Amino acid sequence: MTQRLGARTPARAAHALIGATTAWLAITALPAHAAEELTLYTTREPALIQPLISAFSAQSNIKVNTVFVKDGLLERVKAEGARSPADVLMTVDIGNLMDLVDGGVTQPVKSPALESAIPANLRGADGQWFALSMRARVLYADKAQPLTSFRYEDLANPKYKGKVCIRAGQHPYNTALVAALIAHDGEAKAEQWLRGVKANLARKATGGDRDVARDILGGICDIGIANSYYVGQMKSAKEGTDARKWGDAIKVVRPTFANAKSGGTHVNISGASVAKNAPQRANAVKLLEFLVSEPAQALYAQANYEYPVRKGVALDPIIGQTIGELKVDPLPLTEIAKYRKQASALVDKVGFDQ
Ligand SMILES: [Fe+2]
Repeated sequence: MTQRLGARTPARAAHALIGATTAWLAITALPAHAAEELTLYTTREPALIQPLISAFSAQSNIKVNTVFVKDGLLERVKAEGARSPADVLMTVDIGNLMDLVDGGVTQPVKSPALESAIPANLRGADGQWFALSMRARVLYADKAQPLTSFRYEDLANPKYKGKVCIRAGQHPYNTALVAALIAHDGEAKAEQWLRGVKANLARKATGGDRDVARDILGGICDIGIANSYYVGQMKSAKEGTDARKWGDAIKVVRPTFANAKSGGTHVNISGASVAKNAPQRANAVKLLEFLVSEPAQALYAQANYEYPVRKGVALDPIIGQTIGELKVDPLPLTEIAKYRKQASALVDKVGFDQ
């Protein structure tokens, strides 16, 4: 404090002193940390978001207490109730975000900065949740496949019999995609599609997204569906590692839906909400606003190979070269998320993961 005051002109120092006195008076009535902290509950791995949090703290002087909640975020915040220290709830997948909203642990936020940075289809109309970054559900294909375009519906085409790899249908990445298919094509067609994809599987629907690339390299399948950021992770892995070999074995196509009106690729998101009982509501909003600022959005692209939600932010070069700019399915994610339970039921009905 002395150092900071010393650097100022006498007049400004006096002003700062008055400010400090006021602050001291306020502090006597509030917990000592009141104005300079916030608590973030996140299901995202700390290492992924730490660069963003550090940048926020450096700029705002607000200390972020990061609590990594691997599972059961909703249950935990619900159980804590009105005494929850959580200010910001951060997670991935629109289904998880909607569960927080439906579970009553979020609150509406009105912020011109958030509304101008995040396209309307990527946030709740009532400000209960906001997308912070996007990941596209793309096609990984053997480099020898003569593919330049692809529709999600093509995955069920019998010409791909025994050639398709995908992780479990019940994984949120896939139930969100099935929900989007229901939204676009209706439930009956989505069911037919699931049966068709199941009939085309080269192996059981299991494992992770990177295993699609692994199994393309291994000659088990020719095509598969997986998330875009894994392409960046694999292709940037050290030369000679398995991950690098998998990444180098594939090319990537951005699928669209057959429904020509909405020629865009299915995306899912990472996102956040302000907690219903946030003790530091104003700081929570500041963090969200920072996360959609240009520097933070560039960090999402560089550190995690994600797509920025904000327009005009450069992609990671590997993502730019191998996948390119995204044309996002314009259907609001809230609309897609309405069908997530139906999607999950369909996956079970057709025995997709059996
Ligand atoms: Fe993932």
